[in-house]
Amino acid sequence: MKNILVTGGAGFIGSNYVRYVLENFPDFELVNLDALTYAGNLENLSDIEANPQYHFVRGDIRDAELLRQLFDKYHFDAVVNFAAESHVDRSITDPSLFFEVNVGGVLTLLEACLKAWRLRPEDKYCHDFQPGVRYLQVSTDEVYGSLTPDEPAFTEQNPLAPNSPYAASKASADLLCRAYAHTYGLPLNITRCSNNYGPYQFPEKLIPLMLNNAQHDRKLPVYGDGQQIRDWLYVFDHNRAIHQVLTQAEPGQVYNIGGSNERANLQIVELLLKSIGKPDSLIEHVKDRPGHDRRYAIDSSKIRRELGWAPAYQFEQALPATITWYQEHATWVEHAVSGEYQNYYDKMYGAAER
Ligand SMILES: NC(=O)c1ccc[n+]([C@@H]2O[C@H](COP(=O)([O-])OP(=O)(O)OC[C@H]3O[C@@H](n4cnc5c(N)ncnc54)[C@H](O)[C@@H]3O)[C@@H](O)[C@H]2O)c1
Repeated sequence: MKNILVTGGAGFIGSNYVRYVLENFPDFELVNLDALTYAGNLENLSDIEANPQYHFVRGDIRDAELLRQLFDKYHFDAVVNFAAESHVDRSITDPSLFFEVNVGGVLTLLEACLKAWRLRPEDKYCHDFQPGVRYLQVSTDEVYGSLTPDEPAFTEQNPLAPNSPYAASKASADLLCRAYAHTYGLPLNITRCSNNYGPYQFPEKLIPLMLNNAQHDRKLPVYGDGQQIRDWLYVFDHNRAIHQVLTQAEPGQVYNIGGSNERANLQIVELLLKSIGKPDSLIEHVKDRPGHDRRYAIDSSKIRRELGWAPAYQFEQALPATITWYQEHATWVEHAVSGEYQNYYDKMYGAAER
């Protein structure tokens, strides 16, 4: 496997994945297809733009004709789909966009894979595919719904029970992938990961948002009592797991990925404040998000057992490293908050291409 189509590679996890693969696997070539929505930031990858193994294409995963052209040109062996609308709050205000992108986009990608990889493309019942090809759907633990404090962590056997429009759109995409594997035999995998933290996360998500507010002595809005529990994993460990699944897993397998690291949101916020020497009085409890899930916890024993993956980073070291990264990349944060990063594409690739 050499040529990978990475979709959503200008976002938080995708850009970290692009860098991880280019730094560690010199025989891989990557095409990053990203629509550059508000969450796509090419400044995340400015240091690798000149890498001959990396190509950026601005475009939408819902564009079937563009996908056909890219498959014709690059003969992808694999597709790793990070592209999505990813913010739960935004899904509550605009659910239809989430279904168009997160479900419609996945359907278009799966169709493109079928057409490009099926050995007899004209035969709808053909289950024979080019050897070694693979589609990987990057999903989330949120598809499983919410746990009570005493329930065991989610395994891959848990029923899908999404509660937010975002989670419902991701669960729908998972079901679509399942159907394509079952009906057409498309070789694919699904990974379901818990909350990621690390460099290049858009500052509307918990850790970079709270850090940025605290650094400017602004209030830190905490939903409800702040006792919503999430499992946290360093983004590098997530990407290592994705690449292991892509290159080692049997087709059809679903893998949970987590850090066995449950924390209440309020605890994370207090940790951030303490580590940068700001007072807890900056915390402001605000009205809770409607339908807010109380607890996610992920059992990743399957990927540990079958693929030998385990997190390499401990929260106690990786969280301070993440805080330091944001402090040392004040310009990146400033551009992301002000919207200045959106001019980057024009500067680098020219406004004419829009
Ligand atoms: N952030 C997390 O903690 C987390 C945890 C588990 C799973 N996930 C999943 O991982 C994936 C990446 O998450 P993220 O946090 O990096 O998201 P993100 O919002 O930072 O990035 C999403 C990227 O997708 C691009 N995009 C959006 N719509 C597109 C479209 N129609 N066509 C092409 N590109 C499009 C955006 O421009 C952006 O670059 C998502 O699928 C998300 O559901 C995220």
